Amino acid sequence: MINLQKNNIDIANYIVDWYLHAGRQDLPWRNNISPYRVWISEIMLQQTQVKTVIPYYKRFLHKFPTLDSLMVATEDEIIALWSGLGFYRRAKNIFKAKEKIRLELNGKFPKDFEELKLLPGIGESTAGAIMSIAYKKSYPILDANVKRVLSRFAKVKETSLSKRDKKLWEISSNVTPKSDIFEYTQGIMDLGATICTTKDPDCLQCPLNEICASSYNVKAPKKISKVIKIKPIRELDFTLAYTNKHILLFKRNQETFWEGLWLPSDDPKSHNIYNSKSIKQHNVNVHHKLTHLDLNLNISLLSYNNIFKVKTNAEHCWIKKTQIDSFGMPAPIKKIISTL
Ligand code: ADE
Repeated sequence: MINLQKNNIDIANYIVDWYLHAGRQDLPWRNNISPYRVWISEIMLQQTQVKTVIPYYKRFLHKFPTLDSLMVATEDEIIALWSGLGFYRRAKNIFKAKEKIRLELNGKFPKDFEELKLLPGIGESTAGAIMSIAYKKSYPILDANVKRVLSRFAKVKETSLSKRDKKLWEISSNVTPKSDIFEYTQGIMDLGATICTTKDPDCLQCPLNEICASSYNVKAPKKISKVIKIKPIRELDFTLAYTNKHILLFKRNQETFWEGLWLPSDDPKSHNIYNSKSIKQHNVNVHHKLTHLDLNLNISLLSYNNIFKVKTNAEHCWIKKTQIDSFGMPAPIKKIISTL
């Protein structure tokens, strides 16, 4: 493994120069910088690629352009803007964090690294990114892209995950510069996303190719075919009652995937939605992949002429079809509703 300090290698200069002529400087969160805009982008980018995030980010900022405007947002409104992006806990954390800012921090976004980490959804690396990008203060980061760049650069050998992370944090801290921190942070993220990619690194174009310990010699990731993990399949049965204009949805309050989202009934008997006036029933079947789970959704569709009072304590609502964008719901459910 390369000893960066002993060899006095300053990779930050290479990365900053590269970012200034080849980085993705036009990404929406890299313009009109504010701590609020950086925060929302970093949360959205935690588990999702840039190109997927862009339209969601624009919609979110269109609806809530400033921290002040977010102060009055309901959890439902925030989750609705997340519909289809997945990992909905992130949206719930944004709601919890803004409530903390509103109630405990006088509506002001934290300026301090330790204070940032007290907000739900903000860990060490996200706090480092916000400090570096929004406040231009020198803090290291270690997201998946940066891990890949640094572990190749220094040929990190540790195989145990915790030792490896510890080593990578140490390297990240050592190479993070005191100046040009904005350009460096965005640059190393871009390098990981566009050049030092998982499967096909383009060492020829890499600004570190003369000093990287793995240049032109990156081991191909293990063939996936040998280590395919079979994801568990979960069967889910839903019943969707609807009329010409409305659909009946229930808020999922269990602590599991899709928590906080609006869904058709998963318990039609106890929700009392069978009604002799149902005029038609047919079923649709949809497969949907989550990260750790494959879902097989069986949805039974009940059509009614008119909405009716639903006798249940479960949180529910007859939602106008024209208003589905105001309610957080998973992409496959939204797709089915839009065909009714
Ligand atoms: N991934 C995480 N943060 C990012 C950022 N600010 N720009 C691009 N990709 C990122």
